Parts: sequence; C-alpha cells; structure tokens
Amino acid sequence: MGYEAKAREILKSMTLSEKIGQMNLGLINKENLNDMLEAFKQGKYGAYLTYEDFSDQRDIHNKIMEASRKSRTGIPVLYGKDVIHGHFTVFPIGLGIAASFNPELIEKSFALIAEEASSEGIFWTFAPMLDIARDPRWGRIAEGFGEDTYLTSRMAEAAVWGLQGRNPADLGKQEKILACPKHFIGYGAVEGGRDANTVEISQHTLMNVYFPPFLAAMKAGAGSIMSGYHDLNGEPVSASYNILTHMIKELGGLDGFIVSDSGTTSQLVKYRYSTDEKQATEIAANTGIDMDMCSFCFEKYLEKLVEEGKVPIERIDDAVLRILKVKLRLNLWNREVEPLKDKNKFTLSSEAKNISVEAARQASALLMNKESSLPLSKDIKKIYVAGPYAKARREYFGCWCLDGVDHVVEPVIDILKRKLDNTEIRHLDYFLSERILGKDDYIDTVVYFAGEDPDRSGERNNIANLRLPEGQEEQIISLSNRGKKVILVVVAGRPLSLVRVIPHVSAILYVFHPGTGGPEAIAQILTGEAEPGGRLPVTVPVSEGQIPIYYNPIQVRSDRPEHLKYNDITDKPLYCFGYGLTYTDFKVSDIKVDRNEIKKNESVRVTVNIENVGDRSGEAVVQCYINDCVSSLLRPCKELKGFKRITLGKGESKIVEFTLGEEELGFFDHKGDFIVEPGSFRVFVGLDCENTIDTYFTVLDE
Ligand code: GLC
Repeated sequence: MGYEAKAREILKSMTLSEKIGQMNLGLINKENLNDMLEAFKQGKYGAYLTYEDFSDQRDIHNKIMEASRKSRTGIPVLYGKDVIHGHFTVFPIGLGIAASFNPELIEKSFALIAEEASSEGIFWTFAPMLDIARDPRWGRIAEGFGEDTYLTSRMAEAAVWGLQGRNPADLGKQEKILACPKHFIGYGAVEGGRDANTVEISQHTLMNVYFPPFLAAMKAGAGSIMSGYHDLNGEPVSASYNILTHMIKELGGLDGFIVSDSGTTSQLVKYRYSTDEKQATEIAANTGIDMDMCSFCFEKYLEKLVEEGKVPIERIDDAVLRILKVKLRLNLWNREVEPLKDKNKFTLSSEAKNISVEAARQASALLMNKESSLPLSKDIKKIYVAGPYAKARREYFGCWCLDGVDHVVEPVIDILKRKLDNTEIRHLDYFLSERILGKDDYIDTVVYFAGEDPDRSGERNNIANLRLPEGQEEQIISLSNRGKKVILVVVAGRPLSLVRVIPHVSAILYVFHPGTGGPEAIAQILTGEAEPGGRLPVTVPVSEGQIPIYYNPIQVRSDRPEHLKYNDITDKPLYCFGYGLTYTDFKVSDIKVDRNEIKKNESVRVTVNIENVGDRSGEAVVQCYINDCVSSLLRPCKELKGFKRITLGKGESKIVEFTLGEEELGFFDHKGDFIVEPGSFRVFVGLDCENTIDTYFTVLDE
C-alpha cells in the first residue's frame, strides 16, 4: 500500500483531537518532561524539540517514543533538532562549506551528519538553511550558502540528498533523516541586516533569486519546509496564503508539510496581525501552516475553531495527511531509538576525520599571498603563533552547534608544532609581547589567528561594523610595524572588511568557522601539505557603507557609470564572489560554443581550455556565468550557471565543458511562468566572477 493510501487509512481512524495533536510540535525541558510524557500518551503532540542536555537520562528519547506509541492511534512522535552543519562531528558553517563549490562533498558531509544525528533518535533536522544573504551585518549569513541563487540551489539539493538519500525509499533507512529547508522566504534581506526585521522584495526578485533554492530542495525530495520570523511585503511569512500555500505547496509542489518557525503563530499578536492568539491560530492554520512549532496555539484553539467552522476540517485533514505521509516515508513506526551517547567517549572515525578535514580545506579561501609567503618555508627557524584563535577548539564550530564534541579537536598551534618539527613555534600571548618582541628576537614570521567568536554571528547576532573585533587590527598592525611578516588566518561567521590590515599582512587565509577538521586543514594549507580549496560564496566588502553588495546586480546604468559610484570610497568589493587563490596558476583560454544558435528547448555546450601554468599541481574551480542581453524583465549583469572543480598537474591542461539549457537560461516572468526568451546571450567563463573570457550565442524564436 502506498504512503497516501496508508495515511488516509490512519486519518480515517483519528478523532479531531488526535488530528490536531499531530499538528503540534512541543518544546521539552526538564521541568515539563513528565507532563509532556503524559501528553504524548494522549496523542497531544506529533513532534517535539528540546535544547536540554539529557545526558543524565540517556534513554529519554526512547521513553518519549514509547509514550507516543502507547497513544490510542500509536502514531510515533517525531524528534526534530537543529543539526545544521554537524552533530558530534562538526562541519564548516554553511557559508564555509559553500566555499567548496562542491555538491558531492556537501552530500557526503550531510550523509554523515544524518548518520550521527539518527544514532541519537533525531530523525528530523531543521536544515539546510537556504536563505540567500547579501548583507554581512546579518548574523545568520553564517548559516546559509551565501549570495548566489545557483550555488545555493546546488548546495540545497546536495544537502537534501545527503540527509534523506536520493531515492524516496531511502528516507526510511535508519541512517537517513528528514530535511527541513528554511526559512521560507527572503529572510536574508532583512532591513539593516537586523535579524527578523521587515523585508521588501519585488515578486520578480523573490521568484528568481530567493525561490529557486527551495524549489531545488523540494525537487530533491525535501519532506518539510520551515517558515520564518520576518514579515515580507506586508505579511508575516508564517501567516501568508500566497507564501505558504501558493508558493510552497502549489508552485513548489511540496510533498510534505510546513512547520512554522518557533513561536511564530503566537507572535502574530505582537505583529499586530491578529487581535489574540485564537485569531492568530485561525490565520496560521488557514494560510498553510501544517505544524505549529512551540507556540501551543494549535493545541489551545484549533479544535474550537474547527467546531466554529472558522477552520475547515478539510484544512486539518490536508495538514495531517501531509504529516502522516512523511512519517510513513520515514518508516517511523519501525525506527530504533538508541540511547544518548557518552560524548566523553566519542572518538573521531577515520571517515569522519577525513571528510571533515577535506570539507574544512575546501572551505578555506586564500585571498592574498604576497611573494608566495604561503606555504610556509621549511627553513623558517622560529614562528610566533598569535591571535585569539591559535589555541581554540569549540570556537571553530560556528554558531549552530548543539552537540559538537570539542575534545577531539587538536588546537592548530599543536598541529603546526608537529608538522614543522624543525621550526621553533612559540605562542605569542599578546600581553607578553613587550618582553618577547622587545628583545632583538630573530623571529620574523607571525601567524595571527584573527576573527569572530561564534556568538558574534547566528540568530540575533547582527553587527553594524565589519572590522575585525576590537584589538585585533591593532595587534596585527603593531606586529607589522615591528618588521614581522604577518600571515593572517581569519576564523569568522561572515565576510569581514580587512581593508585596514591589508597593507600589514603578507597572506590572508579565510576559513570561516571550519568545524572539527578546521585546525588540521589550516595546518595542512599553511605548511603546503595541501592547498587552499575555497572560493568565496559571498562578496567581501571594503566597507559596510557599500551594503548591499553582491556580484550580480541588474545594474543597467552602464551608460552612466559615474552614477553608480560613491564619491568617498570605491564601489568595488575587497574580494569578489568566486575568488580564491591556489598555490599554482591557471590560464583560461579558447572559449567556444558548439552552436551559435539554438532553439528554446535546446542546449548549447560551452567549452574552455584550462591550463596549469604554475609550478605545482592544483585545483581550479571553473565558473560559468551568463547574461541575458535583452529581456522583458531586467536580468542580472551576470548569473552563475555552472561550476566545476578540476585538478591539474604542473603543465597539464584540460577542456572543461558546461551545458546551458532551459533550466539555466530561463527565468520566472511577471505571470510566474518559467520562460526562455529568444535573443542573444553572453556566456562568461573564469576562475571568479570578474576575471572571465566570454562569447555569445543566440536563442531562436521557435
Ligand atoms: C529558531 C530558528 C530556526 C530554528 C528553530 C528551532 O528560532 O529561527 O532556524 O530551526 O527556532 O530551534
């Protein structure tokens, strides 16, 4: 029997109260645990989350599952958690792992994440976070995959496949868990970069910039979607029929359910969008929320609203059917719920170590390397290691990390000591600097680990000034003024403006918050054992005054370029999207299209020659962009539509090919139809969004 038929059979047997129970996601803590266990036995909740550390009650989640199975319907409860970029083994934050431009790596990473999470009864994660972000002031830029629609879309489907498996039947396997792409939609465009603030986005931009990643995630099989805290174009996104029912369910075709963000139903009263919680419940349920996260409004008012005819029973049945189908796809009735692990005994498997180190390596972007200062020469006799993150462990985990195990993380200074065993490596505790640096000390190289604490990014943690945190610039500049060669490593949750330290450093390695494998990957890159694999998934501004700044605005005013400039600073970024150096050099040449003209439903093949003209092997991330030269809706000056990571030996060259068809050339028009318009297209290929070579082809009107 298919999921649909089975779900309908269960639905038929349920009372109204039991149906509404499935639409409630409850918050469990130590205080309400016993009451909640009783509530599960009465079928009052279909899902729950907790932020508590129940390590003193290791079988807690099995107890909760058993309580739900004792309910009259026996429908098992679903335990969801924010396993955003790692459970025990922590991967780079979204912004970091996006720098890999490597969907295969994402899929592998999220498969491991799913395996570790499900080993503790977590069969639903509130990830991947797909909010396109072009404002580094916003704290949650850390969680998403950056500023670009195409890159985020590829990461979205890879993350869903990793978590759920590629085939629908995979989701029932013990090691697979339900994905929950979030926050639908436009959250990353909050005014002022201030979290949960107002958002205004035109329908054209909403459909063509913010919607595609969620569409990709739903096409990849995502079984749930989460709304958000913000309001968009005059409506709370957690109470908008157009956003929830029309865009997600009708346009997106979600085969699953919509869960609200935490407490957003009750918040409608504060939003001045409902007079009281009962009306808020009516609005949220009728506009398309299927499961109410932690506001308890559905539990309190929904049954009464159905009896009063204000919420049709058909809406309840639709929501419950969606939830039941997902639980059946998850094979929840037969899942084993293992006890919580003792984290103190956690050891990193070689697979977990290898994947997390490789992810961190590919998340690390080399932004500057004057006179090939990196990799560090083996002849250096003494090196200072300085800065707040030289000895860090947990700080490498980033802003969403509820269960990361930090005792398996070796501080980067200790790894460097092992790898550079002929070099004296000393920790420069800055407060001792006078006593150390004052002497005629022949240490000439300092590796300075700068950056942000994880609590400086993430939910609620917005900043207005993109400089390095207080004190770090001064230390870097003082080291440079003493004649030291400074190698800067930046551990951060957002792109920071480094413009003031650039004259004082010889190299910049940007590692974001790189996770468990971060220190090892950084040490490998610094010593030349491996090369920096990252390319920027987000623009690095010169100043916050330039925000919003991203690589592909519509920017049609090229006829009057002076209009687009500032009088006081450049309008150009410090480092552009897609940028990242390697330890070798590549030459991009000979761009060709296999046909100069194609029909609307045909594809064109674009090829370029990539040659390694440096003196060691290396990886190139070849990027393909388009511009729709004339269109009925103004299109961005450039749009990423393909990327490939290739490795070339010294002197080796390779032809790289991209295929551009309807999916890549089309866009949503004013009516919401996805169309490919006839006319000329310019196609660019390069190693970042600025340094490209290009050619043209034409789409015929037939
Ligand atoms: C939070 C976040 C959301 C998270 C949810 C559950 O407030 O907005 O991203 O998944 O609540 O913790």
